[in-house]
Amino acid sequence: MSDAALRELLVAHQARTETSLDHWLPPADIAPQRLHRAMRYAALDGGKRVRPFLVYAAGQALDVPLEHLDGPACAVELVHVYSLIHDDLPTMDDDDLRRGKPTCHKAFDEATAILAGDAIQALAFQVLAHDETLQVDARRRLQMIGRLAVASGSRGMAGGQAIDLASVGKRLDLPVLEIMHIHKTGALIRASVMLGALSSPAVSEAQLKQLDHYAKCIGLAFQIQDDILDVEGDTETLGKTQGADMVLDKPTYPALLGLDGAKQRARELYREALASLEGFGAAAEPLRWMAEYIVSRSK
Ligand code: IPE
Ligand code: IPE
Ligand code: MG
Ligand code: MG
Ligand code: MG
Repeated sequence: MSDAALRELLVAHQARTETSLDHWLPPADIAPQRLHRAMRYAALDGGKRVRPFLVYAAGQALDVPLEHLDGPACAVELVHVYSLIHDDLPTMDDDDLRRGKPTCHKAFDEATAILAGDAIQALAFQVLAHDETLQVDARRRLQMIGRLAVASGSRGMAGGQAIDLASVGKRLDLPVLEIMHIHKTGALIRASVMLGALSSPAVSEAQLKQLDHYAKCIGLAFQIQDDILDVEGDTETLGKTQGADMVLDKPTYPALLGLDGAKQRARELYREALASLEGFGAAAEPLRWMAEYIVSRSK
């Protein structure tokens, strides 16, 4: 597939994700309206939708029809949106701008933003439990729910966020910084690829292992690139405030390795991710392209 075709695929998957989110999010005009408005405000019409793309691409690599992947794609994006709402709160990163518009607590209020995050997280699991398009048996569905739960909790994203907050103003060494990144961002990216793969009733243990290694590499690379963009991106393109990590004195890859060192590490991880997909053939092109997108993106 050409680069242009893969870019179009990203746009198409973004549109699919938007439709699913719109379908599952409660309408803004039913009670409690303010909460539902906040949920829709944070989840709809924004973001790159990288995690849903990974669900679709991993499923595609195993010949799963797109229609069977909508539920898991929607679920991982919901967990991500919830994590962003809470990440931006004054007690966490205290950010005013997200996806090019005021953060949820700025557009509404802190209590509403906390509740919107809570409710969006719960909705993710509701989607996975109830989605009727998923073509797997109940045991596999439970496995998927379990994967997403572990990736979101204290041994995954929330745990990584705890390390992040405890590390402000400290200089972490590389292994600890890597553990923080693998948890706060890597875990959900890994779950996205795994949920896509587990949507295939026929996926083998060997394939799951290869895909998991791919996901581990791009998950870490994703946060390294996020740290790099905090230094050399611009607020307009990013849709969030550039330089926020430096202001808060967050431990980041560029802070520890320098910009060049951070870029080199991201490239290494990219190559390792590609190597993990050996034997997957043309069906895995979208996964390969996404690995490149993650380390070369400007937003
Ligand atoms: C930002 O994620 C938060 C991190 C985990 C680094 P994204 O860069 O995927 O944000 P959106 O979804 O495109 O807004
Ligand atoms: C956030 O990392 C990871 C999450 C779990 C949301 P950051 O705090 O670096 O994300 P941004 O830069 O605010 O998007
Ligand atoms: Mg943060
Ligand atoms: Mg943040
Ligand atoms: Mg960041």
